Amino acid sequence: MHTVKAIYPGTFDPLTNGHLDLIARGAKIVDHLVVAILRNSEKDTPLFTVSERVEMITETTRGVGNVSVATFDGLLVDFCRQQGAKAVLRGIRAISDYEYEFQMAMMNRKLDPELETLFMMPAEKYTYVSSRLIKGVFELGGDVSSLVPPLVVERLKAKVAGR
Ligand SMILES: Nc1ncnc2c1ncn2[C@@H]1O[C@H](COP(=O)(O)OP(=O)(O)OP(=O)(O)O)[C@@H](O)[C@H]1O
Ligand SMILES: [Mg+2]
Repeated sequence: MHTVKAIYPGTFDPLTNGHLDLIARGAKIVDHLVVAILRNSEKDTPLFTVSERVEMITETTRGVGNVSVATFDGLLVDFCRQQGAKAVLRGIRAISDYEYEFQMAMMNRKLDPELETLFMMPAEKYTYVSSRLIKGVFELGGDVSSLVPPLVVERLKAKVAGR
């Protein structure tokens, strides 16, 4: 019997219900899923520190036995090899995600032909949810409580109050 370990990489700044939906779907089909936070993202200054993001994901996925949380730097293929993971999990929300995800999957295949990328689609109600949009709406006073876990709502409030 061989077991399949997959890495779900992202910035998760912050974790949304779309990410959680994907984590639940991924965890059902692989033996172990590692949610991996990219430490040096090219994106603008993150709202949450890496350790705040680790904590939010760890707390929220506590009930799911085969999910763990890690952080990484550098090439995803190197991290996968180091973790003994055969697959990468990525989400496709809309056509707009496809082009970028396709390029990344092909580049990762070029760098490591043994590594497979698995694409999954979230529940329809999360197809428009992104961390960037959540932060933007929250900062303008919009209600995001049905789109992120309760802990994330709490942390968003604390972040904004602490400014
Ligand atoms: N609502 C969602 N449904 C399905 N997949 C998603 C969803 N949000 C993000 N993903 C996927 O999760 C992975 C990690 O994404 P990422 O950390 O960039 O989240 P994001 O919400 O797109 O954040 P940002 O807005 O900062 O780009 C990507 O494969 C992305 O397509
Ligand atoms: Mg994104």
